Amino acid sequence: MGSMPGTELILERAQRVIEACGRADRPCATLSYAQSLDGCITAQAGESTRISGEESMVLTHQLRAAHQAILVGVGTVLVDDPRLDVRLTEGQDPRVVIVDSGLRTPTHARCLQLERATPWIATTSRASEESRERLQQVGARVVTTAQNSTGGVDLEEVLRQLAAEGVRSVMIEGGAGIITSMLAAGLADQVVLTIAPTMLGGVRAVQDLRQLGSADLRPRLEQVTTHPLGDDWIVHGVFRGHGMTS
Ligand SMILES: NC(=O)c1ccc[n+]([C@@H]2O[C@H](COP(=O)([O-])OP(=O)(O)OC[C@H]3O[C@@H](n4cnc5c(N)ncnc54)[C@H](OP(=O)(O)O)[C@@H]3O)[C@@H](O)[C@H]2O)c1
Repeated sequence: MGSMPGTELILERAQRVIEACGRADRPCATLSYAQSLDGCITAQAGESTRISGEESMVLTHQLRAAHQAILVGVGTVLVDDPRLDVRLTEGQDPRVVIVDSGLRTPTHARCLQLERATPWIATTSRASEESRERLQQVGARVVTTAQNSTGGVDLEEVLRQLAAEGVRSVMIEGGAGIITSMLAAGLADQVVLTIAPTMLGGVRAVQDLRQLGSADLRPRLEQVTTHPLGDDWIVHGVFRGHGMTS
């Protein structure tokens, strides 16, 4: 399946940002998720809600194919059990990275079953040796990082380790915890956001960013473009301060 009119431009812009990143210490990080008009990623905590339309789903798969790695939190693995592969277009499956400080990822998680680059599970010293062995036995590579201030995985360190292995681009597909942490740490370079014409009144995609200070210090997009796609809208932009010309 080729690109649809409208998606070509978004893909081209996202690709140009990846190429312009040119940093050796961490890959270019693209936040990509679907939200309702009122900014929700799911209708109910602990549940999966289908938000985007068919065309936007195809775009998601095209974006997956455009990145070398795809990163999600263990919350998403437990709730959605996503495959995180490229099915709705042609292209290579990105390497899966699960952020999971206590190794709650089940060995039967679908994204671990695929025949592709060894999946990574980024964890902390909080994880038990038994869980490490359990996941290594099904072919995952367990990577340990320092703990962040709340005991979670140090995302910057995960990105540094990915860069050290030659990964230049990573797509961050959620969920809310990971999106918020990436924004709070200033690690996101660009966003491809799908906005669907629905109001969910559920769990917001971006949670508390008050730690960043006043509103003008919070993440802001530059070089913004918007595109209608099916019934959805796609917003693409580069995070302020990431100094790229897309
Ligand atoms: N609409 C969309 O595009 C989309 C995409 C993906 C997911 N979702 C939805 O999002 C929901 C899941 O979101 P979620 O917030 O519960 O889970 P999440 O963001 O996928 O994962 C969060 C979990 O990751 C672990 N973690 C470890 N280090 C972390 C760090 N530095 N920062 C943040 N998290 C860290 C924590 O669990 P531990 O303490 O156990 O390590 C944390 O609870 C589901 O309802 C899913 O359907 C929607």
